[in-house]
Amino acid sequence: MMKYCYAGKENDREKAFQPIWSNDIDAVFSDVARYYDRANIFATLGLLNTLQDRFISTIDIQPSHKVLDVCAGTNVIGINLLKRQPNLDVHAVDRSVAMQEVGRDRATRHGFQIKSYISDVHRLPFPDNHFDVVTLQWATRHLRVIEVFSEINRVLKPGGHFHHCDMLRPANKLVEKMYYLYLKVLMGVIPRLFRSGPASMKCRNYFIQAIRMFYSTEELSTILSELGFSHINGRSVLGGAVGFHKARKPPLPSQI
Ligand SMILES: C[S@@+](CC[C@H](N)C(=O)[O-])C[C@H]1O[C@@H](n2cnc3c(N)ncnc32)[C@H](O)[C@@H]1O
Repeated sequence: MMKYCYAGKENDREKAFQPIWSNDIDAVFSDVARYYDRANIFATLGLLNTLQDRFISTIDIQPSHKVLDVCAGTNVIGINLLKRQPNLDVHAVDRSVAMQEVGRDRATRHGFQIKSYISDVHRLPFPDNHFDVVTLQWATRHLRVIEVFSEINRVLKPGGHFHHCDMLRPANKLVEKMYYLYLKVLMGVIPRLFRSGPASMKCRNYFIQAIRMFYSTEELSTILSELGFSHINGRSVLGGAVGFHKARKPPLPSQI
């Protein structure tokens, strides 16, 4: 871990958040699963679908591609990719049974089948060089980034692509300040509006702290580069409050 530029920051994040990641996150998403999609639309003032559509439109897929959605939650990514290309082989991995149950029901309603794996994503339950495309949306703040991105690199086929989207720490100080203010208001309103349970109430401050201690678009690009990804394209959206990244696992010499 020490050879990485952000190894120290990863240690700080782990020290600050490991008790929540180990003890509380599953209970939060069990509680949130029933209103997760509605709350996200509310929290982004209706912008969520536009943001997700923009992100999903950057994902290159071909018929029969094997796709893995990491921290798949309610299967937003898998369902949208299958709408674009019904011949995909889509796999979803997440630790929350409740989120995946909502995701399975949503996929079934659309007539799609997504293979579900309940697992912690710091060790992905798949062989090396297995997927053409891996996606990860709205979850990296809750993870040990270097470990999970290394695992994603491992399971991607040479030449395969990783597409990432999350709320990031804006590089601009003024945007950052306004962003935290907005999140603070939201964390006051959402639990009341959606009648959150005790686990979500307990983690209200965590959701802001997780972004304060998170990465900017540029920093995430550095992590991807240090892990051996190539063709890294990091794009800041909403003043850097959200970032889209696309990166490639280098192809084998025989593929070039
Ligand atoms: C905010 S939701 C995002 C869901 C989905 N990717 C989306 O775009 O809507 C975060 C998800 O990450 C999952 N998660 C958090 N930490 C995890 C871990 N260590 N292993 C597996 N899943 C995890 C949660 O269970 C939750 O479903």
